[in-house]
Amino acid sequence: MNPALKNLNRFSTPAKALGEPAPDDSQLEQILQVAMSAPDHGRLYPYRFISIRGDARYRLSEIFVQATMRREPEVEATYLAKQREKPLRSPLIVVVVATLIESEKIPEIEQMLCAGAAAHNILLASNALGFGSIWLTGANAYDDYVCGELGLAENERIVGFIFLGTPELDIPPRELPPVGDYLSSWE
Ligand SMILES: Cc1cc2nc3c(=O)[nH]c(=O)nc-3n(C[C@H](O)[C@H](O)[C@H](O)COP(=O)(O)O)c2cc1C
Repeated sequence: MNPALKNLNRFSTPAKALGEPAPDDSQLEQILQVAMSAPDHGRLYPYRFISIRGDARYRLSEIFVQATMRREPEVEATYLAKQREKPLRSPLIVVVVATLIESEKIPEIEQMLCAGAAAHNILLASNALGFGSIWLTGANAYDDYVCGELGLAENERIVGFIFLGTPELDIPPRELPPVGDYLSSWE
């Protein structure tokens, strides 16, 4: 592979294998600045980021527990314990929030794609700085209670929880299918 593509060839690290250090505030700012170079029809910047680190992760953990109990009042204790554990696996979480703007010209789907591209840029930029990451969603990402507790407005959606830290495991690159299977040239 051309060395210029090395930093773009990233793979996820499981959240529980992401340890300290996470990007510090200055590194995170640089990562998020790269995120903001996402292609953006109309320059709407239809996203924002919420960083959650340290003790704040325990508040998110409690929000996940409450949200799960609201969704599933009969939920088993072991499942609840897993929900509680989720935000505590990695030292830093960035919530990528799509902020959807009413526009006749730029449909919601394009704004969601832009926010998704920003999220992916976070993965690429953190990889380039030597950090590991993983983009996770699950039921909590689409839960009104979670959105409310995180302060999202009516027009906002959670695109993903990006877990960040330093990989504690050597993750072998995932075998990818040959791109030829996904490429046709239209003539
Ligand atoms: C929008 C979105 C949501 C995702 N949510 C989850 C999730 O909740 N749980 C999960 O195991 N993987 C989820 N993934 C996949 C992982 O982020 C990751 O891509 C996958 O584990 C494959 O690893 P790789 O990035 O190394 O190819 C999600 C990916 C995207 C794009």
